[in-house]
Parts: sequence; structure tokens; C-alpha cells
Amino acid sequence: MSDFLAAIARAPIVPVLTVETVEEAAPLADALMRGGLTTLEVTLRTPAALEALTEMKSAAPGMLVGAGTILSEGDIDAAMKAGADFLVTPGLSPSLATAVIEQDIVTLPGVSTASEAMTRFDEGFAFLKFFPAEAAGGVPFLKSLAGPLSHLDFMPTGGITAALAKTYLSLPNVPAIGGSWMAPKADIQAGTWDKIAESAKTALAVLD
Ligand code: 3PG
Repeated sequence: MSDFLAAIARAPIVPVLTVETVEEAAPLADALMRGGLTTLEVTLRTPAALEALTEMKSAAPGMLVGAGTILSEGDIDAAMKAGADFLVTPGLSPSLATAVIEQDIVTLPGVSTASEAMTRFDEGFAFLKFFPAEAAGGVPFLKSLAGPLSHLDFMPTGGITAALAKTYLSLPNVPAIGGSWMAPKADIQAGTWDKIAESAKTALAVLD
């Protein structure tokens, strides 16, 4: 976990990426790195995702490359074989919880209620993805948990925009946020790499 915490301390925004072709992987990772980001998450939602993840790791060796949309034990194995540095899940089923606990890899399990967060803490997770952030209560929800569950940190993801980034990141229980706004699917498909690098820079600039 220490590498992940160090990376998000330098740049607390994790781009959530949907990559359709392996050819997009290297220029995309390079653009995000040029934009100052230190981590990225490739969602396992396309046939190219795993190969793209491996490609991104070699194209951007300084970045931590995670796998998102982990839904099954098979996804964990495949992501680890592809070289993922960390895993992100939208939630945990009982079987996925068992599989994730057995692995020695940084994992941010998704939660959207206080009870889920408490269950994950009992299982050993203290840094959780809050998903779907905007739909599940957003900033007021996280503020409400900061008192009773002050031992937990969250990476809200889902519906976050450039305009909301600063507010989320000002919360004491939010060391990082995730989102696709700086590298939306349309920009990736269009190959507008400089635009993506600029959006990443702009996203981080709100923290200055
Ligand atoms: C997702 O569901 O892909 C992630 O949570 C990112 O959501 P976003 O596209 O709303 O940023």
C-alpha cells in the first residue's frame, strides 16, 4: 500500500480509463504521465483491457497501473498476470471478498453504505472506493462518515467532474478521487493525446 499512498500523495486523481484497442495504450499512458498523474486505472470492460494494461506499464514505467471493474476471482488472476499494481472493484460479493482477501495486492473495494464500509474494515480494508460517488450521496455522504468512521479513507469515483474535484479532495477522509473526465472514451478514440495531457494538468491545477 505504501507505493500507492506515495503516488496519490503526489497526484491524488486516478484517471479511470476504457481502452478499446491496444494501440491506444502507450500514447494514453504517456499523455497522462505528461499531465502529471502518477496512477491510472484500466477498467476490465473491453477485450483489449488486459493487454492495454501490460502495454501501459512498459510505456509509463513511473506510473502505478491498476485494474478496475474487478468482478470475479478470474478477473483478479488475469489482472495480476497482466501486471496490475492495484485493483479496484465496484463492490464485493461474498466470493469476491474471499478471493481478494487471499491476494497480496493493494485493493480498493467499492462501498456505498456505512455497513459495507464497516464490513470491509473488519476484513482488513481501510482505504475504500466510494462508488457510485455522486449517485450514492457524494460529498455530504462522505462528510457524514468522517465522524463515526474516522479510521477509514475513501476514493470517491463515479460522476465526479472537474468542477467537483477540489471539494471532494478537501475532505479529510478523501486522499484521492477517481474519474474519467480528463480522459473520456471519445478523446481516447480520437487520439487527442495533447488534449488529455492538458486536462490532466488542469485537473491537478485545482489543488494549487
Ligand atoms: C466508472 O464507473 O467507470 C468509474 O466509476 C468512473 O466513473 P465516471 O466515468 O463517472 O468518472
